[in-house]
Amino acid sequence: MKKELEKLLQQAKKDIESATTPKDLEAVEVKYFGRKEGQLNLILKGLKDLSAEEKKEMGAKANDVKSHLQLLIEDKGQHLRGAAIDAKLESEWLDVTLPGKKPVFGHTHPMSVVQYELEDIFKSLGFMVLDGPQLESDYYNFQALNTPEHHPSRDSQDTFYVKNKAGNDKLVLRTHTSGMQVRAMQKYGAPIKVIVPGRVFRYEASDASHDNTFYQMEGLMVDKNISIANLIAIMKVLLKGILKRDVKVRLRPGFFPFVEPGFELDINCLICGGQGCSVCKHRGWLELWPCGMVHPEVLKAGGIDASEYSGFAFGLGLTRLVMMRYGIEDIRLLTSGDWRFLKQF
Ligand code: PHE
Repeated sequence: MKKELEKLLQQAKKDIESATTPKDLEAVEVKYFGRKEGQLNLILKGLKDLSAEEKKEMGAKANDVKSHLQLLIEDKGQHLRGAAIDAKLESEWLDVTLPGKKPVFGHTHPMSVVQYELEDIFKSLGFMVLDGPQLESDYYNFQALNTPEHHPSRDSQDTFYVKNKAGNDKLVLRTHTSGMQVRAMQKYGAPIKVIVPGRVFRYEASDASHDNTFYQMEGLMVDKNISIANLIAIMKVLLKGILKRDVKVRLRPGFFPFVEPGFELDINCLICGGQGCSVCKHRGWLELWPCGMVHPEVLKAGGIDASEYSGFAFGLGLTRLVMMRYGIEDIRLLTSGDWRFLKQF
């Protein structure tokens, strides 16, 4: 039995030695110390045939062999587990000194770029920048602007009427920013210099130059002795500031119930240079924005004495200006949210 135990010890040592994974090692442990088939137990079965003296000796010997081997297994186990961790770390190694991936940043929409630039120009001229409601009352959008119900000029500004639960005043998605003229005059009185950039809506079929949603910037200046000369001067400063070049302009008479006289300010089409294209509808001229002297009825609605004060107003087509500035041929791209389009700016 002594020899058998000796042999087992040598063989087990070799097995432990050659184990290369924790799993191998486990198998070795079972092979020698397994409760049923373990080789040590098989040998110890022979104990019962020995004398009391020999039993004692062999029992002690078997325990030595067992604890010796268990130490070896423990040792090897630690070694193998360490190696496994090292291998994992190796496979997950990363170089923290490498340059990182650049995040993709968004940027200001071309519409906002131009809007902010215009705001800066007007602020430098002492204008306030106001915001107004997109859902406007019929009163401010039309009636206060000298455009009573059934006035034919409402036809050109058909819009989306909204049911009003409160019931008093009809609500509309504002067709222009002009409603803010009267709101601003009521709130701040005269003299006043304001601009109101904002989103407006029209019920119309869309094409390259029309959309149901677009942007305007209203301008209003009321003071003593304000004349068309002041209007033209401000328009010139504005155009130079925004287009960064001299453009040909023309003033045509234009009708709007809330200005008298009223004009259309046109510029030479910057897309085709006046040859004619889909954007300028082959006219060579682009209607940029209408303007005029504030109608006395509108001053009155704003609570301002028309015998003492006068003023001008303009309704700048912000969307059209952006199209001119960047050479955008289809207005619908601006609200498309299409990244391929937007990332060009
Ligand atoms: N609000 C008018 C429109 O949208 C434009 C306008 C504004 C005309 C101010 C004159 C003065 O058509």
